[in-house]
Amino acid sequence: MSNASTIRCLITAGPTREYLDPARFLSNPSTGKMGFAIAEAALEMGWTVDLVAGPVDLQEPDGSILYPVTSADEMLQQVDALFDACDLLIMTAAVADFRPVERLPQKEKKAEAALNLALQPTVDILKTMVQRRAQQVVVGFAAESERVLEHAKQKLLEKDLDWIVANQIGQPGTGFAGEQNELWVLARDGSCHHLALASKRALAGQLVAYLSADLQGHGMRAGSV
Ligand code: CTP
Repeated sequence: MSNASTIRCLITAGPTREYLDPARFLSNPSTGKMGFAIAEAALEMGWTVDLVAGPVDLQEPDGSILYPVTSADEMLQQVDALFDACDLLIMTAAVADFRPVERLPQKEKKAEAALNLALQPTVDILKTMVQRRAQQVVVGFAAESERVLEHAKQKLLEKDLDWIVANQIGQPGTGFAGEQNELWVLARDGSCHHLALASKRALAGQLVAYLSADLQGHGMRAGSV
């Protein structure tokens, strides 16, 4: 990763959907805007971009390669297939944490449905990639509704990431579906870089520039714990 133009970046974006039957699914309000904006900024930086996206209503940026997926399991398979070739993984996707134990092939009639849902956890894609990484730099996102920095730092350490980008959800106009956001970029060395409230596109540019400068300055990994 000595030359910025050679960086191959794998970005995930959007929600995943975990279907109960052909008519119903579990998901979250992610729109994919932040991930797609980061893809655009990475392309402008001269990086190669593979974009793995859950169901979103967005056009992929020119020059990126889009891999559409639906469920957390499909996202895992797709990221797993692309991970070895990438230098940098940025997981902005809001991966569903649970899926129904059973996915029914036909729409269940409401009169016959049980009102309790049996769930099982999805695989943590970030953790799985980190466990088998070689030189890859791995960046996670943390969507938190309270104690944002504290929870994000826990995730950074627990998932053994190089960086985690924290943002607050549950406030009108920002977070998941909003046009704007405010970010905190936490590194393993304990540093915290604040990106003030701005459009997701502007923040994406600042974030990619920040990651790029740090990657160039410090080699592959962002620092040590
Ligand atoms: N993530 C993942 N695989 C999952 C769930 C999350 O790779 N099955 C990634 C997300 O893409 C994000 C990071 O983990 O980069 C943190 O996701 P977040 O939803 O904030 O946290 P969780 O790990 O799901 O923990 P919690 O829901 O308890 O906050």
